[in-house]
Amino acid sequence: MSLSGKKILIAISGGIAAYKIHFLIRDFVKKGAEVQVIITPDAENFVTKLSISTLSKNPVYSDFYGDNGTWNSHVEMALWADVMVVAPCTANTLSKMVHGMCDNLVIATYMSAKCPVFIAPAMDLDMYVHPSTKKNLELAESFGHIIIPAENGELASGLIGQGRMSEPETIAKTIEDFFDSTVEKTLEGKTVLITAGPTYEAIDPVRFIGNHSSGKMGFSLAEEASKRGAKVILISGPSSQKINSKNVELHQVTSAKEMLSKVFEFYDTIDIGIASAAVADYAPKDVAKEKIKKNDDNLTIELIKNPDILRTMGEKKTHQFLVGFALETQNEEENAKGKLEKKNLDMIVLNSLRDEGAGFKNDTNKIKIFTKTEKKEFNLKSKDEVAKDILNFVESQLLK
Ligand code: C5P
Repeated sequence: MSLSGKKILIAISGGIAAYKIHFLIRDFVKKGAEVQVIITPDAENFVTKLSISTLSKNPVYSDFYGDNGTWNSHVEMALWADVMVVAPCTANTLSKMVHGMCDNLVIATYMSAKCPVFIAPAMDLDMYVHPSTKKNLELAESFGHIIIPAENGELASGLIGQGRMSEPETIAKTIEDFFDSTVEKTLEGKTVLITAGPTYEAIDPVRFIGNHSSGKMGFSLAEEASKRGAKVILISGPSSQKINSKNVELHQVTSAKEMLSKVFEFYDTIDIGIASAAVADYAPKDVAKEKIKKNDDNLTIELIKNPDILRTMGEKKTHQFLVGFALETQNEEENAKGKLEKKNLDMIVLNSLRDEGAGFKNDTNKIKIFTKTEKKEFNLKSKDEVAKDILNFVESQLLK
């Protein structure tokens, strides 16, 4: 989720593909972007301001004049935006954009915008291949705008060919890739290993001991490190999280022992190790070969201590910068600092279960970072934002 805090201005013009923009808005908002939408007067035939404003969580404007003599400032909206996306962009709106035919709010806003502009054209196939459309798309490109080409397929007219607006997922991916490409490559040349998620310790062929860790924190760290140019090795226990970045090498493991041996396949080659996994502290001593029957009233399972992966990393540390996590419920700071020493870490990230919204099941986290000499406290943020804070801190330490 790379859109956290990004300001996206969507302009909808009057084509049947406008209905798909609902999904795009929802996706952007879900990924943490702020979304404002403006529509051409014609677009009101295809979408309602109510549905769009409900999804975007902002008022939707189609003309310059508001109620009671107010003015919808196209300049303010244009300057607010980090990117502007015109989708669907009809032949008419495209033509007005490239020729400066400024007769509605969308065009006036577009002409006031200084940010990158993305255009997702949508029209019938003969219109799409018409020389005037081709010329206008070339002009738009020559202005530096990014065209998200129409796709092939069945069109609303029943004809089959190129002209269908690109799917919302493709538009979203183009915008996300753009934002990713603007991130400074501060970790270029570095290899970062991250452990994530829970571990499952088998009791028998169908049961295990595990925990509620979602893996989100580790996956956010992996995405962010990869955007900063690092080679990322992500070793995760069972998790439903997905990785979007191509530069993240994901290794899926189940138990703590598997995680340990995977980590040490790479340990010598890494520059930074971040242990965000919630590793089970104990595992059943013997794993039953068959499913355990419920014969007796009591069942005792003997547990033995799992290897401490991070501690082992600390013991074998040569040049690696090591970051641990501590999830504490009492004497938080002392315990976190104790782990920093005991596990031979360079930095530890403390999240307290006492803080609402912190911890391993939520999308948000509230952290404090400790090194041997420093302490820094952060506000409650999304895990994507927390990942940025953690990596900023790591980078500041590496520069010392
Ligand atoms: O000792 P405690 O489990 O609280 O330490 C938490 C830190 O140690 C986390 O960074 C966690 O990923 C790591 N850890 C580990 N292997 C274990 C237990 C914890 O890598 N068996």
